[in-house]
Amino acid sequence: MQVDLKSEILHLKEDKNAVILSHYYQTPEIQEMADFVGDSLALSQQAQQTKADIIVFAGVHFMAETAKILNPQKKVLLPDLAAGCSLAESCPPHLFNRFISSHPNLIVVTYINCSAEIKAMSNLVCTSSNAEKIIASIPTDKSIIFAPDKNLGKYLIKKTGRDMLLWDGSCVVHEAFSLEKLTQLCMHYPHAKIIAHPESEEPILRLAHYIGSTSGIINYVKNSPNKEFIIATEAGILHQMEKEVPGKILIPAPSHQDNTCACSECAYMKVNTLEKLYWCLKNEKTEILVNEEIRKKAIVPIQKMLELS
Ligand code: 13P
Ligand code: SF4
Repeated sequence: MQVDLKSEILHLKEDKNAVILSHYYQTPEIQEMADFVGDSLALSQQAQQTKADIIVFAGVHFMAETAKILNPQKKVLLPDLAAGCSLAESCPPHLFNRFISSHPNLIVVTYINCSAEIKAMSNLVCTSSNAEKIIASIPTDKSIIFAPDKNLGKYLIKKTGRDMLLWDGSCVVHEAFSLEKLTQLCMHYPHAKIIAHPESEEPILRLAHYIGSTSGIINYVKNSPNKEFIIATEAGILHQMEKEVPGKILIPAPSHQDNTCACSECAYMKVNTLEKLYWCLKNEKTEILVNEEIRKKAIVPIQKMLELS
């Protein structure tokens, strides 16, 4: 007998008092099952506020780990523990420890896309939607280490004028956008507004009319009188966007690799499937655990970020 995954997930969710939090980059069918769909900041805020006993995090490992750091008493599940992140992986804790030790007295700000160990070594954590506000909270006479995303770091240096030492990490998805193909696409759509996530490389950001987090991007498209948009971020965002702005023309920015399809997909985000969502809720075996000593240190910069946001 075939299992009706969607109704089973709903039953399990109710029986177990679970909540499903989904990032915009998840598949449309997962987003449709979620109690809340949002960007990294909004998802952390939801995780902090939830009354559920179980949090099923339809996203990647660092997001679920942040939810666990905030909720040590709750069970936090990730549909597939292999859902990592190239940015988080580009910052191994032992190397980062050496890096910050060789630059003492700098304020360590890390983008939320990093492991609990890295957060535990940080003074402040930020997301793409609050990074400027977090940087502004640091006295101007202090220099900053920013990790792991060098593209977001360069963008923040430009926006804030602050002195920042950058870790050399990046996102495979946002670094894959092709300037050449984007320029060609702009000639076909001369009236389109170009919207980009700040994890994209500088030449792409230079062309963008708006730069922001996933929820910032959706709001921009919603509030703009413009009809056509070229979107330089992961293609999963188009699902909520199409629902929010029916009738507008949303064109995914082209990446270097694709000649057939213009979509840029995050392979890490897409390892989660509806089947895995069902199995993880049913069996509760894909649980996120964080060492208590690390958790106690990592929660400090996360809570500071939530207070400042
Ligand atoms: P947002 O916080 O903008 O949703 O970004 C998360 C992410 O992983 C972007 O690649
Ligand atoms: Fe990480 Fe990039 Fe995927 Fe976001 S899109 S989860 S930064 S690999």
